[in-house]
Amino acid sequence: MKISKRLEKVKESPTLAITAKAKEMKAKGEDVVSFGAGEPDFDTPANIKSAGIKAIEGGFTKYTASSGIPELKKAICGKFLKDNGLTYEPAQIIVSCGAKHSLYNIFQAICDEGDEVIIPSPYWVSYAEMVRLAGGVPIILRTEQGDEFKVKPDALAKAITSRTAAFVLNSPSNPTGSVYNRQDLERIADVLVSKKITVISDEIYEKLIYDGEEHVSFASLSKEAYGLTFTVNGLSKSYSMTGWRIGYLAAPSKELASAVGRLQDHSTSNPVSFAQKASLEAIGGDQSCVAKMTEEFEKRRDYMAGRVNSMRGISCVKPKGAFYVFCDISKTGLSSFEFSRRLLEEAKVAVIPGEPFGWDTHIRLSFATGMDDIKKGLDRIEAWAKTL
Ligand SMILES: Cc1ncc(COP(=O)(O)O)c(C=O)c1O
Repeated sequence: MKISKRLEKVKESPTLAITAKAKEMKAKGEDVVSFGAGEPDFDTPANIKSAGIKAIEGGFTKYTASSGIPELKKAICGKFLKDNGLTYEPAQIIVSCGAKHSLYNIFQAICDEGDEVIIPSPYWVSYAEMVRLAGGVPIILRTEQGDEFKVKPDALAKAITSRTAAFVLNSPSNPTGSVYNRQDLERIADVLVSKKITVISDEIYEKLIYDGEEHVSFASLSKEAYGLTFTVNGLSKSYSMTGWRIGYLAAPSKELASAVGRLQDHSTSNPVSFAQKASLEAIGGDQSCVAKMTEEFEKRRDYMAGRVNSMRGISCVKPKGAFYVFCDISKTGLSSFEFSRRLLEEAKVAVIPGEPFGWDTHIRLSFATGMDDIKKGLDRIEAWAKTL
């Protein structure tokens, strides 16, 4: 049977090989430390789990409105107003099966064949593939480590063509942890607003932000920025709810939200009913779990970044958000895959190669794992790096 041309162009996740090998080694009883995690290691908070259980026991197990239950959409509007200073109406909100699904829907809704989408690199691996699946062309815009991996306005202006359909902004970023402050955003907004470019602002790591930095939503910068922006967020990272699969988008108009809604009507229908009830509790309930988790992540980040910067041949820009340290390994002379493969085989530490994020001179370490493992893994990397 033939595979569609559309899907043929989409690559398999190249990080899977390393992750699968680490799993296989662990299954054989080998003591592998993994820095690969893309999800918080904390349990989903008890009040959120209880809300989900209560919903199931109360029979809330049937189809819901395809774009999400009205009370959750209302709570999301309340969150946008309180946290981000953004005013949305429930009709502008679409709740989906994770932020990944929200992003997928947006690309499907706005891309025509050959449309270009500008993606700053390093980038989260799925953006480019989602753009391809929508018939679009990813335009990779390389940033510089010296600029904390943030896009420069003049480089952005040069990347825009008559085919540019959108620009993807991810702050705090996976994999670099860089955070755009208000001034950074205003500078790129000048370019994007003047050329009327749609912005897809992926704010999934919004709550995981350190050093007292403030998260600024691109759409909150001005009326013009609001009118161009899809704001994407979700529950996975902030509330340790990766498996519940709830994410959402806010569209700049009801019409655009309705277009995304039509796509969802005919593809997945509603996100899981009782996960929506649990999300209502997450957004509306006690927020102390978020602060606790962020505090713990900040301690780990300080420790990990400090250790990495004292190692031979390895260094990093201290991340300001998310839970990753993007390490420069260029001085070792190894490619990111070679480095990761050898580190796993010779020192039993699993990391993610940077090549799939667009940077073969780097590797990604996640600190979404306990402090004991972080210490053990870093000791091993340090000792191993000396042998190179
Ligand atoms: C930058 C970024 N955006 C979106 C997502 C998707 O999150 P989810 O679909 O779990 O809400 C992830 C997950 O790793 C991510 O790193």
